[in-house]
Amino acid sequence: MKKFIHDFEVTCNHSISDNYFALYLKCPVSLPEILPGQFAEVLVSNSATTYLRRPFSIYDVDSGKNEISLLIKKVGNGTIALSKLQIGETLNLIYPLGNSFSLPEGKKALLIGGGVGIAPMLLLAKHLHSKGYKPDVLIGGRSSQDIVEREKYEPYGKVYITTDDGSAGEKGMVTQHSLFSGKIKEYSAIYACGPESMMKAIARLADNYQIPCEISLENTMACGIGACLCCVVETVDGNKTTCIEGPVFNTRKLKW
Ligand SMILES: Cc1cc2nc3c(=O)[nH]c(=O)nc-3n(C[C@H](O)[C@H](O)[C@H](O)COP(=O)(O)OP(=O)(O)OC[C@H]3O[C@@H](n4cnc5c(N)ncnc54)[C@H](O)[C@@H]3O)c2cc1C
Ligand code: FES
Repeated sequence: MKKFIHDFEVTCNHSISDNYFALYLKCPVSLPEILPGQFAEVLVSNSATTYLRRPFSIYDVDSGKNEISLLIKKVGNGTIALSKLQIGETLNLIYPLGNSFSLPEGKKALLIGGGVGIAPMLLLAKHLHSKGYKPDVLIGGRSSQDIVEREKYEPYGKVYITTDDGSAGEKGMVTQHSLFSGKIKEYSAIYACGPESMMKAIARLADNYQIPCEISLENTMACGIGACLCCVVETVDGNKTTCIEGPVFNTRKLKW
């Protein structure tokens, strides 16, 4: 798929909570097709210490407005600098990068996001819904502070919540949600993104129930375009770059 490099204009920098914000970015030309699971490499020019671009999943696409959005958690200098961008400033993006999620065989799919790992699930939920699939969304976080913008997912499927401390939804980790002891067998695919330990646990459960599972890896990246090999992951088919051959992988292919 062809990649582009453009200066996007910040049309909104929406502070969601202390740690999370969403950037709305207008493209100077017509947006190309962007598939769920794809990401952008963002040049953080307003941080003097962030030399390398930072990868972020494409959170949403509004073709009518020619806009994309990114859902970002502040974790270090780069993301803190991005949280300070003002309307009218520009942000240079290389996009759309990486592969995308595949369609499920049956109608029902379970989409799971841990913390900011929920970001790639919005476009996927929209995409599946528009094609007549029935996505359910399970969002997990440490506390209610990590459950962000759940209302965005509600038009596309039923939304379930877990928090480690029980401050929202069911108490416990996503893999302890009652869905896994109840209607899990109804799903013909599971998609997940979040901390690696969470994705590994989901992969084991999916395997137990013989449900195909795809996850989006958030390996550290430098170039994002297959040149530096810092994002390589071991698979049963040999080493693969997360930025080109991922970030989406079938969990049965990963040598975890
Ligand atoms: C394909 C892909 C998609 C991503 N999508 C999103 C997204 O939609 N929203 C979002 O907020 N973040 C996303 N990330 C993670 C994001 O790229 C990092 O959080 C960001 O690069 C951190 O930059 P920084 O300069 O703020 O932090 P740094 O100063 O680089 O790091 C600060 C701390 O965060 C840790 N860290 C850095 N990168 C990661 C990572 N990839 N995973 C876990 N910990 C990390 C570091 O180890 C360090 O402890 C994605 C990563 C990948 C590879
Ligand atoms: S980030 Fe450089 S090869 Fe993937």
